[in-house]
Amino acid sequence: MTKSYRIASIPGDGIGPEVVSATIQVVEKLAKTLGTFDIDFTHIPWGTNYYKQHGKYVSEDALDHLRQFDAGLFGAVGDPDVPDHISLWGLLLAIRGPLQLYANVRPVRTFPGTKCPLNTAPEGIDWVLVRENSEGEYSGQGGRSHIGQQWEAATEVAMFTRVGIERIMRFAFETAQARPRKHLTVVTKSNSMRNGMVLWDEIAALVAKDFPDVTWDKMLVDAMTVRMVWKPQSLDTIVGANLHMDILSDLAAGLAGSIGVAPSSNLDPTRKNPSLFEPVHGSAFDITGKGVANPVATFWSAAEMLTWVGEKDASDKLMRAVENVCAAGVLTPDLGGSANTQEVVDAVCAEIERLY
Ligand code: NAI
Ligand code: MG
Repeated sequence: MTKSYRIASIPGDGIGPEVVSATIQVVEKLAKTLGTFDIDFTHIPWGTNYYKQHGKYVSEDALDHLRQFDAGLFGAVGDPDVPDHISLWGLLLAIRGPLQLYANVRPVRTFPGTKCPLNTAPEGIDWVLVRENSEGEYSGQGGRSHIGQQWEAATEVAMFTRVGIERIMRFAFETAQARPRKHLTVVTKSNSMRNGMVLWDEIAALVAKDFPDVTWDKMLVDAMTVRMVWKPQSLDTIVGANLHMDILSDLAAGLAGSIGVAPSSNLDPTRKNPSLFEPVHGSAFDITGKGVANPVATFWSAAEMLTWVGEKDASDKLMRAVENVCAAGVLTPDLGGSANTQEVVDAVCAEIERLY
């Protein structure tokens, strides 16, 4: 019997709807052409328009609603009319935390059609960044006092738990183990952050004992930025705390060639909850509505989603078609091309037709 998957589609704001709609067209084409699985996308209208109408970014029963699906495909959230911390906490962080999507996986690879700007990596880069996605600096702990006074104070407390660190560390070692290089770099800042980051180091050393076939090393986050630029080939799988990896993964996307191709997965590795797949980029106000957003980051996110639900073969086939199209020069302006979003969609659909 062909397997069937129910996907929550949450396009959100800005270019989110453009890249999600592009991706649904391509994935539906893939499913129809291969005939090996069925996929059904259900549109969920959460985002800033929803917020303007309902005073909330997501519905009351958002988490239970999402639990009915096998996975979610998300676009972006953020609108010029609403402060970013309201929109981000209202939608994305309202899902990631409560659903315990604690592993944020960001593969970074120099893609056909993109150019790695580093002359230290002539053959491009190929890394997987694993970001702790549920605590650390983004735990939401903190507050503001004496509001409006000259002595106004604000705290942002980074919270790290043994459970939180151990589960992401285990996931990162498993990720590294599954890749040919079997090498993990653990990023902390355990010289100046002498509590939480030291706990990270201790747990890394403990978990490493269970993975004797994985080599690993430690980096302080500041030195890591230098290593990413000067010795990119010495890296493979990288794990770190929420804030550090948020920043390093944007750097990695830039080094790989463009934010327009960078995908991410928000995973619940226990599989109790559906995982959420999204491009790394945001709403991109400057190009919203122009029809030129690069859909490749969302295509790749959907490929990661297919792998996660158990359709690795379909995922590989999707990526092959996308890579062929990029290699043939059908590229959006962020990659120096002149194609629009729909032209890329059409080219990928035609390539799927041709290949399979
Ligand atoms: P951004 O990623 O939206 O845009 C940064 C730059 O990259 C812009 O010049 C944009 O045009 C370009 N870009 C991004 N995606 C592209 C694509 N697919 N194709 C071609 N060019 C692309 O980041 P920015 O400007 O810092 O944030 C804009 C809004 O998005 C803010 O409200 C922010 O909070 C939100 N945001 C949301 C995220 C999410 O939903 N996960 C992630 C990052 C930002
Ligand atoms: Mg970011």
